[in-house]
Amino acid sequence: MANTAEGQQRVLILGGKDGLLGQALAEACSNTGYEIHTTGRGDIDFSGSQDISNLLERIRPCLLFNAVAYTQVDQAEDDQEAAYDLNRFMPAMLGRVIKERPECLLVHYSTDFVFDGRKREPYTVEDAPAPLSVYGKSKLAGEQALLQLGLENLCIIRTAWLFGPRKKNFVRTILGLCETRNSINVVDDQFGSPTYVPDLAANSLKLVHSGGRGIFHITNSGRASWAELASEALRLTQRECVVHPVPTREYPTKAVRPAYSVLDLSRFTECTGITPRPWPQALADYIFSEFPTE
Ligand SMILES: NC(=O)c1ccc[n+]([C@@H]2O[C@H](COP(=O)([O-])OP(=O)(O)OC[C@H]3O[C@@H](n4cnc5c(N)ncnc54)[C@H](OP(=O)(O)O)[C@@H]3O)[C@@H](O)[C@H]2O)c1
Repeated sequence: MANTAEGQQRVLILGGKDGLLGQALAEACSNTGYEIHTTGRGDIDFSGSQDISNLLERIRPCLLFNAVAYTQVDQAEDDQEAAYDLNRFMPAMLGRVIKERPECLLVHYSTDFVFDGRKREPYTVEDAPAPLSVYGKSKLAGEQALLQLGLENLCIIRTAWLFGPRKKNFVRTILGLCETRNSINVVDDQFGSPTYVPDLAANSLKLVHSGGRGIFHITNSGRASWAELASEALRLTQRECVVHPVPTREYPTKAVRPAYSVLDLSRFTECTGITPRPWPQALADYIFSEFPTE
């Protein structure tokens, strides 16, 4: 493992300056005592390997987190090339670079949207992916490109339904809408596991420290519909705004989303001994830190 003169280990977090997850990873790594290095949009040219190779040579991290992705799920339907550039070709390029650096572990993030949502029980890491959207297909292609390289220093973490501080997310959007409305329509027939990014970041580090390699699922525990998540956020903030549950067909989007994408966390729990806390507890922490009631 690469150390600084003071013995501090270094971590490079792509997307650590401005990503929802990237910023949480930066905080978790800093709290754990790592020397952190972060990048933001425009800092690195991902179309080739020169920039990232130079950065790795200069920093010599023991951990490289890839929290950069094309995450605009609906826009990806019209912008397939850009989605594949960032979600498939960029991780593949990172994998080739990291193959030459076995002392550095690559931690890459993927999504519950690699599944089609036909199951009615949590998806395990062994379940066959069958993405419904360009975003899901491009993220799966990124996973496969990395796995094909046969890296021993690779960890792929699939996660879902992220919320947390410092950046736009579903919970913040709902609470913002309810500033000016008495009621909102929210989809109640898509089910997933809401995930608080500080919990995901801390659990990612626990996984790395437990020697986790290969594919893992990490979310908070439990499941919700978007309407249930919105209702719980409003209850916690004591907003007088009513959530009207609506079916997906009344809220059409360009990209098709899985109706059910709860992830089975047992491989993570077996590796670390940790069961992530239930999403309502994590949501309460987020709400009370970012939206304190007067
Ligand atoms: N958000 C979710 O609910 C969710 C669910 C499942 C899985 N995931 C996965 O979790 C990971 C982190 O997601 P996130 O929600 O934290 O994403 P995010 O907030 O959208 O951050 C993605 C990062 O990538 C950067 N980026 C986007 N397009 C770029 C480009 N063309 N060139 C360079 N940088 C670019 C963003 O910069 P800007 O800030 O400038 O855009 C940001 O730093 C991703 O792999 C995602 O697929 C997310």
